[in-house]
Amino acid sequence: MRIEPNDFEGFNRVLTGVIVPRPIALVSSVSTTGVVNLAPFSFFNAIAYDPATIVLGISRSAGWKDKDTLANIEATGEFVVNVVVDDIAAAMNSTAAEYPADVDEFEISGLTAAPSEIVSAPRVAESPVNMECRLNQVVAIGDDAEAHALVIGDIALMHVRDDIIDGHRINHRRLKPVGRLAGNMYCNTHDVYELVRPVYDKGEN
Ligand SMILES: Cc1cc2nc3c(=O)[nH]c(=O)nc-3n(C[C@H](O)[C@H](O)[C@H](O)COP(=O)(O)O)c2cc1C
Repeated sequence: MRIEPNDFEGFNRVLTGVIVPRPIALVSSVSTTGVVNLAPFSFFNAIAYDPATIVLGISRSAGWKDKDTLANIEATGEFVVNVVVDDIAAAMNSTAAEYPADVDEFEISGLTAAPSEIVSAPRVAESPVNMECRLNQVVAIGDDAEAHALVIGDIALMHVRDDIIDGHRINHRRLKPVGRLAGNMYCNTHDVYELVRPVYDKGEN
């Protein structure tokens, strides 16, 4: 089957069905009036480690309202990415409805807000990894500047729970990150294996 993105109804389901599994950023942010917000985003990745940079893809509108996360990030220039792991998957999902802007999804989800050190948005205490981020820039994606935003964030400070880090390496069997597939489908990442990367021999000897 040939698929032209602009000409295929439901292309979003194809795209999100083939680029899998995606990590999930549970993003905490705070409005200029002090309302705390929490919502998940799986158009999420790290794109550089020096400078430490992450990206989020956020659709500006969530049906009947604009997404609070994007509005908060643009207004304050700050947010926290909390990594979603097995133990908080259901709580993460509970934050994803299109709640009005004055709703604090920490209360909906039962997750605990812990103070951050650098940014005003709180961290999710139950997540083993929190990245305090400052907004680098928002890039409008597509011809309609109001449709999608690529949020580029600089990691100012990362918190990693001691039991999941061995020296400089993260122990994924203990981290238990959740992978997002398409729609309501998710996967575990317990089935870990190693592939040693080959080294090209330039044959200089
Ligand atoms: C696992 C998961 C991943 C999601 N990823 C994205 C995403 O990458 N971009 C996006 O715009 N919305 C995404 N959503 C939808 C938002 O979480 C949803 O629109 C939410 O209500 C936004 O909340 P806010 O208005 O508080 O920012 C995702 C939802 C779920 C459950």
